[in-house]
Amino acid sequence: MTSTGEDRISKLKELFPEIIVNGKIDLNKLREVLGDLVDQEPYSFDWPGKGQAVALQHWPVTAAFEFCQEESVNWQTTGNLFIEGDNLDALKLLNKAYQGKIKMIYIDPPYNTKSPLLYADNFTDHARWLSMMYPRLALARQLLQEDGAIFISIDDHEIAQLILLMNEIFGEENFVSVLKWKRKRKPAYLSSHVATLFEYVVVYARNKSKLRRLTVGMATDNTRPVLNAGNKISERVLPAGADAKCGDGILPPGTYGGRSLKFELLDAAEIKKGRLVNDVRVRGPFRVPQEIFAKFGYITARKALRRYVSEEEKQPKLISDGLLDVGTNEDAENELKELFGGICPMDYPKPVSLIKFLAAAVTGNDDIVLDFFAGSCTTAQAVLELNHEDGGNRRFIMVQHAEPVRKTSRAYKAGFETISEIGKERIRRVLAKMKDITEGTGEDPGFRVLKVIQKEG
Ligand SMILES: C[S@@+](CC[C@H](N)C(=O)[O-])C[C@H]1O[C@@H](n2cnc3c(N)ncnc32)[C@H](O)[C@@H]1O
Repeated sequence: MTSTGEDRISKLKELFPEIIVNGKIDLNKLREVLGDLVDQEPYSFDWPGKGQAVALQHWPVTAAFEFCQEESVNWQTTGNLFIEGDNLDALKLLNKAYQGKIKMIYIDPPYNTKSPLLYADNFTDHARWLSMMYPRLALARQLLQEDGAIFISIDDHEIAQLILLMNEIFGEENFVSVLKWKRKRKPAYLSSHVATLFEYVVVYARNKSKLRRLTVGMATDNTRPVLNAGNKISERVLPAGADAKCGDGILPPGTYGGRSLKFELLDAAEIKKGRLVNDVRVRGPFRVPQEIFAKFGYITARKALRRYVSEEEKQPKLISDGLLDVGTNEDAENELKELFGGICPMDYPKPVSLIKFLAAAVTGNDDIVLDFFAGSCTTAQAVLELNHEDGGNRRFIMVQHAEPVRKTSRAYKAGFETISEIGKERIRRVLAKMKDITEGTGEDPGFRVLKVIQKEG
C-alpha cells in the first residue's frame, strides 16, 4: 500500500478504532457504526473495470526518478521539471514531494476520438477511458493546494463521462465551470451533422471555498472609443468642463472625425485652457450611453471623440463561461512551426495563449503548474512566457511518456522518435529564444529532465 493509503487508514482508525481489524477495514462494522447515516440505495456511477481502476492509485510504486543531466538546461538553478515516463508512476512519485503544493493543473488527455493521431487516442470504449483517467485524476487531486484548481481540455466524445468522473473524485461541490474554447475560426462544412467550432475546458477546484475568483488582466488602456461604425446614429451632449486636447479656440458646428467614425457637432464648441466652456450636442454612431459620455468623454488632439476608462473598469475582469476566443488550433500549429523551422511536429497542439489565459486567472508569482499529458509542452511555454511578461517566478512540471511516433509522421521526418523528445526540444528552443531577450537581465530559466525508471524485482 502507498504511504497515502496508510495515511488514510490511520485517519480512519483515529475516528473509528473498532472498524480496523488486522490493519484492514471491516466494512460491515463501519456500516453498523454509522447506522442511519449509510445510504441503503446510493447513487453510483459504475463501469466495467472500475474497481481495479480505483485500486490502482494505491498500488505501490515500483519506479523511481532518475536525473538526466545532459538533457537538462541550467539544472543547478531551475525549479522546472520535465518528467519522461508514464504519468501514473510519475504522479505517485510526485506525491512524495509535491503533495498539496501544486496551484494549477492543466491537462489535455487523449479525447478517445479513435482517430489515427500521433499519440494513441483509441480506448475502444468509455469504460477503458474512464479506467485510464480515474487513478490519475485521484492522484492529481492530492497534489493540488487547498486553493488550487484543475483545468481539463475535452471534446464531445468524453465530456459526459468526464463530468461524472470528476464529480466522484473532486465532489460536485467543487465544480467551477465548463469553459468553451473556440478551436477553429471557420466551421468545416463537410462535418456530418453539426460543424463543431468548440471544445471544452472543465474546471474543478480542490476546495471551491478556498479558490479565489478567476480574473484576468487589468485594463491597460486608459481610454476607449465612444463611437462604433455600425451603431445607430444618436445624439449626446458633451458638457461644459469636459477635456478638449485640440487647442484653445472655437470648433464650429459641422462634421468631424475619420471616414468611418464621423460625428456631427451641432453647436459651436468654445475651448479655453484645454476645457470645453459650453455644453455641445453631438450626433454620431454612439456605443456608450449619455451618462458615461458625460462623465468620461473628451475631445482628442485630432478633434475626435474618446472617453477615459473608469477606475471600476480597470479592476481585474472575472472570466466568463462565454466564448474563449484566445487562439485556435491553427495558431498553435503556427507557434510550433515558428519554433521548428516551418514544421509542426504535433497533432492538435493547444495554443500557448489559451493556457496562458487560464494560468493568469488562477496562479500568482511563485505557483507551480503541472501538466501530466504534456505532449509538445505548450504549458511549459505558457508558464515561461507569463513569467517573462509579469515578472513572475512560476514553475512548471511536465509529464510525458516516450510514446513512439509513426514513421510516416511529420514528427518522424523532422527527426523525432518520441513525443517526449518533441516536448523537451520545444522547451530548449523556447529557452534559447528567451535568452536572446533576457540576456543580462538576471532571468535565466532552465529545466531538469527526470526519467521514470522501473526498479528491479
Ligand atoms: C492531446 S495530447 C496533449 C497535447 C498538448 N496539450 C500539446 O499542446 O501539445 C495528449 C498527450 O498525452 C500523452 N499521454 C497519453 N497517455 C499518457 C500517459 N499514461 N503518461 C504520459 N503521457 C501520456 C500522449 O502521448 C500525448 O502526447
